[in-house]
Amino acid sequence: MEVFRELAGLRAALASARADGREIALVPTMGALHVGHIALIEAARRPGACVVASIFVNPRQFGANEDLSRYPRKEMGDIAMLTEAGCDVVWLPPVEAMYPDEFATNVSVAGVSDGLDGEARPGHFDGVATVVAKLFNQVSPSRAFFGEKDFQQLAVVRRMAADLDFDVEVIGVPTQRDDDGLALSSRNVYLDEEERAKAVALPRALGQAARAIAGGGAPEEALADARAALVAAGFAVDYVELVDADTLAPDPPADRRRQLVAAARLGSTRLIDNLAVSPIV
Ligand code: PAF
Repeated sequence: MEVFRELAGLRAALASARADGREIALVPTMGALHVGHIALIEAARRPGACVVASIFVNPRQFGANEDLSRYPRKEMGDIAMLTEAGCDVVWLPPVEAMYPDEFATNVSVAGVSDGLDGEARPGHFDGVATVVAKLFNQVSPSRAFFGEKDFQQLAVVRRMAADLDFDVEVIGVPTQRDDDGLALSSRNVYLDEEERAKAVALPRALGQAARAIAGGGAPEEALADARAALVAAGFAVDYVELVDADTLAPDPPADRRRQLVAAARLGSTRLIDNLAVSPIV
């Protein structure tokens, strides 16, 4: 596995892979890798693919009061995990190279970025769209892989890639979960033992709401029950909503693909999760 910290070297290596007839697959990450990221690498791997993982803790997607300074960083461990997973190239750009002083561009995706995390974390999706656009230009992948846990992020990236004519297939990979159902996240390391035990209430609340709605229950009632269950478990709820899985519009009709989406805080740790509601046929 090759590791690059400088764009010219990365581009030369990828040009040579392309000249050998290999297609480039990108897995963008912020490091602190876990089994969920490895599932992205595995999804990206196929004969003839050159799998590139980027590791970049993107300051532009963190708000002023968010966890940029304490975001977990474990570069050596990440590189070992990527080697083991069969990744071909690691792209580790320095922050000054990504955002030099004169950097003045912002990529903003209207609509899908607006509600939910876009409302709770102003500017977050501009930061995501800007860095992903840069990574797409740096790596020029034909396929790029993102976890479905960040459901709104995936919708934002898909919209951005389509609108800006990036010649890349954006592929969502199912959420990986711990045995008790908690979605894997780099931020789970912030949870102490007591919070970790409580955290399972999040996937459980979504599971119950999904079953109630799929069974014909009123969505508003199921959502209220889910919010109440989270509060009872000790969460401060940012939102629990039912949205159209493609557009993220609220109050989707039952013949659309529907997704439950939630964000809630346990102490200082903010967790997000989502779950599909089976269509009523
Ligand atoms: O999901 C993440 O880890 C990040 O938001 C991403 C897509 C790598 C952009 O910084």
